[in-house]
Amino acid sequence: MAGYISDDTRKVTTHRLFEMKQRGEKISMLTSYDYTTAQIVDGAGIDVVLVGDSASNVMAGNVTTLPMTLDQMIYHGKSVVRGVKRALVIVDMPFGSYQGNPLEGVASAIRIMKESHADALKLEGGEEIIDTVKRIISAGIPIMGHLGLMPQSINKYGTYTVRAKEDAEAEKLVRDAHLLEEAGCFGLVLEKIPASLAARVAKELTIPVIGIGAGGYVDGQVLVVSDMLGMSQGFSPRFLRRYADLHSVMTNAISQYVADVKSSDFPNEQEQY
Ligand code: KIV
Repeated sequence: MAGYISDDTRKVTTHRLFEMKQRGEKISMLTSYDYTTAQIVDGAGIDVVLVGDSASNVMAGNVTTLPMTLDQMIYHGKSVVRGVKRALVIVDMPFGSYQGNPLEGVASAIRIMKESHADALKLEGGEEIIDTVKRIISAGIPIMGHLGLMPQSINKYGTYTVRAKEDAEAEKLVRDAHLLEEAGCFGLVLEKIPASLAARVAKELTIPVIGIGAGGYVDGQVLVVSDMLGMSQGFSPRFLRRYADLHSVMTNAISQYVADVKSSDFPNEQEQY
């Protein structure tokens, strides 16, 4: 498979993402939660690394993203920042750290920025959290919005199915997208909504719109790194393209190691002191 390695080693900034949208260059974004993966993802030329609260599912084995704490997001954020040289690093604000009121939100945001050294933060929601978004941005912290399927609200939806298929929800999403842009967000994630709706939002907004399960007519794409590498099993939404089968690669390597240890093949003469 042909790869894309940019010779541009300058640090990606929110302004550069804006310029990419203006000249029609698509933005690539993947999650990472640890130093080693972040180094690989950054070295392969990704534009944006998201320290997603999907760490709750992927790293901790929880069913939802809700249990994630500020301390845990800061730990993952710090680990990723140490591994990244070029990409913009965005950390998700976890459930419960910003929904209460703007002051709580700004205090949580400042803690993540101070302790993780991330470049920006992402939070879920529109009108309901707009005062918090404004307050955080006024503290000098770049914010990316997240609309459509918002996993932190899974208990409200009761399902991970496609959002905004009905007119009322679609119109609210478009209104929220404009509110987030007007509040000063530098970008927006749209998760699991009809491609035509995502295309409309990307066209109406001047800030970059990054899709996951939102079709191809947006300004960039994001996937969960362990899903696109084929590490996870039993999660096959239509929008997920698997670029590798690391589950098989890792299983084969580990079972070979087990066999080598059992048979005393490992370590051999050259592998000892
Ligand atoms: O937490 C996450 O991984 C995310 C992406 C799915 C956009 O928010």
